[in-house]
Amino acid sequence: MRIEFQSGDYGETACDLLAYPVFDEDLSDSGSLESLDRMTRGAVRTVFSSGEFKAGLHQTCRIYKPGGLKSRYLLLVGAGKKSRFEPAKARDIAGTALRIAIAAAARTMAFVCRGHYSALLEARLAAEGALYANYDSGIYKTREKEYGEVHTLWLLFERGTPPRNAREGLRRGILVGEATNFARTLVNEPSNILTPSRFVERAAAAAASSGLSMRVLERDDMEKLGMNALLAVSRGSEEAPKLIILETPKDSKKGIRRATALVGKGVTFDSGGISIKPSDKMEEMKADMAGGAAVLGAMTALAQMRVPRPVIGLIPLVENLPSGRAAKPGDVVKSYLGKTVEIINTDAEGRLILADALSYARTLGAARILDIATLTGSCIVALGHINAGMMGTDQTTINRLRSSCRITGEGLWQLPLDEEYGKAILSEIADVKNVGDRWAGAITAAKFLQEFVEETPWVHLDIAGMDLDTDGRPFACKGATGFGVRTLVQLLE
Ligand code: BES
Ligand code: MN
Ligand code: ZN
Repeated sequence: MRIEFQSGDYGETACDLLAYPVFDEDLSDSGSLESLDRMTRGAVRTVFSSGEFKAGLHQTCRIYKPGGLKSRYLLLVGAGKKSRFEPAKARDIAGTALRIAIAAAARTMAFVCRGHYSALLEARLAAEGALYANYDSGIYKTREKEYGEVHTLWLLFERGTPPRNAREGLRRGILVGEATNFARTLVNEPSNILTPSRFVERAAAAAASSGLSMRVLERDDMEKLGMNALLAVSRGSEEAPKLIILETPKDSKKGIRRATALVGKGVTFDSGGISIKPSDKMEEMKADMAGGAAVLGAMTALAQMRVPRPVIGLIPLVENLPSGRAAKPGDVVKSYLGKTVEIINTDAEGRLILADALSYARTLGAARILDIATLTGSCIVALGHINAGMMGTDQTTINRLRSSCRITGEGLWQLPLDEEYGKAILSEIADVKNVGDRWAGAITAAKFLQEFVEETPWVHLDIAGMDLDTDGRPFACKGATGFGVRTLVQLLE
């Protein structure tokens, strides 16, 4: 799908489907849609007075062959109350419109940007939303698609809108939208296809085309470095563990600032290991590398945006399986940092691989660390599928992330990290154990990670429950969400 800037009169725009966002308030304000009503020779007013279209968020109404317009369809897209509108909603309604266009077999579509935000932001949001909606999770379907594709989408701005800002927003929106879809594909890939080595191959291709530098620590390297927490998780699998290290291109003009490290959990399949999971929904554990996918996606977008600040991405990759070689409950390992860990439950594997990646990030000179991981079922119990859990010691970054939600649409909610929670992970035999008791599991997992970042300012995002959407939305298919890509890009760009 091509997405292009256009300015001019929507009455003159020839396309298959013209999408026009309508606010609740427009229905009672006769002035606001007057020209659209005139152009459609009263069709819009008729729809409003029929009462069937109330402009609720994502409600749509399709008008066939609207007299006076050059488009085949006019699509009214509900945007809800203007007073409660926010950027994330602008993204989503562009997506809803695109999905209707696809179902209407439209090949060309125009989306009216009504000027609610700056041209830069509006173009970006519409591009991100359209690309998100255009994504299809059916990557292994052999049957031909039921509908064709929208091959061109015009973002239609009022006549006289200077193209420069809109085009810049569009460019960034396309980068972020594509990076998000890249992450979604990685998450949707089954674990027989996307093993740690195959993840490395895809990352290498993405790094090469986006200008990231990349190196990979192999099992030997990890053994030499003493990354025994990470290695313990991978022991049960025939697949070799990997640790990807990415860096954004250096900008020599800017003074050297200390880097932010992004660390993403990359468990390509989590069976639980010897502490094996029940089989119900176990297939969803192919998505246990969603944090790693978000880091890779965000890094490719940041590199292409030429963001001047240095960013390092670390993605520890393993498969967590039971076998005669697997780590067992009660085993003790010495981590890269030197702290000893008693493995009580082999299903608490994410924190083990992150522990070594986090302390390794510090030796690379990270001044601030963010990690993102599908870490605990307990986080889903606490926050459901609406917000990811956010914990850490860098309150400035936490506050920034919290306020980015209304733009990114990715919910984040802070959970506490009091020192007392740390008692739950003290071991009798070693420095720490990898699980607490049954209470506050998302927090005790974070306390475990905190042991390995020590004093470095750090934020942890627990995205369990946010990685997959099992219901589908008006603007998206079911499956992987790419959660985290927009949040990480927004924070760092
Ligand atoms: N990958 C899971 C967490 C998870 C659960 C993500 C459901 C998405 C959906 C993680 O590795 C795990 O198994 N955590 C355990 C920790 C427990 C053993 C302390 C959990 O949450 O049950
Ligand atoms: Mn697990
Ligand atoms: Zn896991």
